[in-house]
Amino acid sequence: MSQQTILFVDDEVNILKALNRLTRHEPWTVLCASRGSEALELLDKTSAQVVVSDQRMPEMSGVDLLQSVRDRHPDIVRMMLTGYTEINVAVDAINRGEIFRLITKPWNDEELKATIRQAFDHFHLKHEIKRLNLVTREQNFRLQDMNRNLEDKVRERTKQLAEKHHELRTAYVQTIRALAEAVDAKDAYTRGHSERVGVYASKLAREMSFPKDFIERVYIAGLLHDVGKIGVPDHIITKPERLTDLEYEEIKRHPEIGARILEPVTFLAEVVPCVRHHHEWYDGSDHGYPARLCGDQIPLPSRVILVADTVEAMTSDRPYRKALSLEIVIRELHTYSGTQFDPAAVRAMLALFEREGDGFLRKNQKFDIYEFIEG
Ligand SMILES: [Fe+2]
Ligand SMILES: [Fe+2]
Repeated sequence: MSQQTILFVDDEVNILKALNRLTRHEPWTVLCASRGSEALELLDKTSAQVVVSDQRMPEMSGVDLLQSVRDRHPDIVRMMLTGYTEINVAVDAINRGEIFRLITKPWNDEELKATIRQAFDHFHLKHEIKRLNLVTREQNFRLQDMNRNLEDKVRERTKQLAEKHHELRTAYVQTIRALAEAVDAKDAYTRGHSERVGVYASKLAREMSFPKDFIERVYIAGLLHDVGKIGVPDHIITKPERLTDLEYEEIKRHPEIGARILEPVTFLAEVVPCVRHHHEWYDGSDHGYPARLCGDQIPLPSRVILVADTVEAMTSDRPYRKALSLEIVIRELHTYSGTQFDPAAVRAMLALFEREGDGFLRKNQKFDIYEFIEG
């Protein structure tokens, strides 16, 4: 049960007595004051919800008192009880004291009690509204806080995921490079061959304006294109003299062997056909192997890799010859464009030579495929 305290202010003792009598059977705590200053002191010490004041009193008028109450205790419901019914007093009381009701003397007991009850209800209603507003505001703040925390957490987790993803992709490429290097190491002359084919092929793919995931696939396929040489006897791979027909047939098995090695690896599924067909000729002639595919039948990355592969081989020393000059390489590309090579890949290679010259072939450059793709 909420507490109900009312303060009556009147300089006439009889009025205060009458009011006390009137409220005797009500569940209200009644306070009385005969001066404005006394009333204000009482309100500072005790909590009341309703103040009923006379207008005409010595020292301080009722309107002045109620204005002070409004300033100091805005929640207290204020009423004026007066025999003095000049309109300007009423207007003052309403405007300055912001009173709830104006009651005239002499009063009707039941009406006065009903009005006081309304005043208490009014107080408790306002109090409840205020409390609910506060609760709502607090909950809003808490919700905003939770939202902010959630956003921060999501941002943080997304960042962590991106980092993990990058780490995984880098580890994946490093593993593939290690494998490619192991194959190249079978022959001193081909050391670094696969890595360079991967680099040249991805540069070609970018020159041809292919999307990022395509460039990545071309790079990986470039690294792995000769992985099947692992299944070709070393003495054939390292043989410095011209190969016999039989030995050449043996060498020609490396794309198929490579594809077979990679086939069980799920995440390399798209790379397998690129490896299998990296020695097909664009014109479909029987120089190409293993399937003698023609033109568009040959996977696009294979066509890009073939040009990169040939350029890398021609510009590297071999036991039987020195690296060929750029001039000769360019002539060869022109000669075999449309027969061995996809003319689009040749055009891109020539454009790269045009722009970068010998710099394009600089060996042992550091290359990060993901920096390259994003850059
Ligand atoms: Fe090859
Ligand atoms: Fe190769």
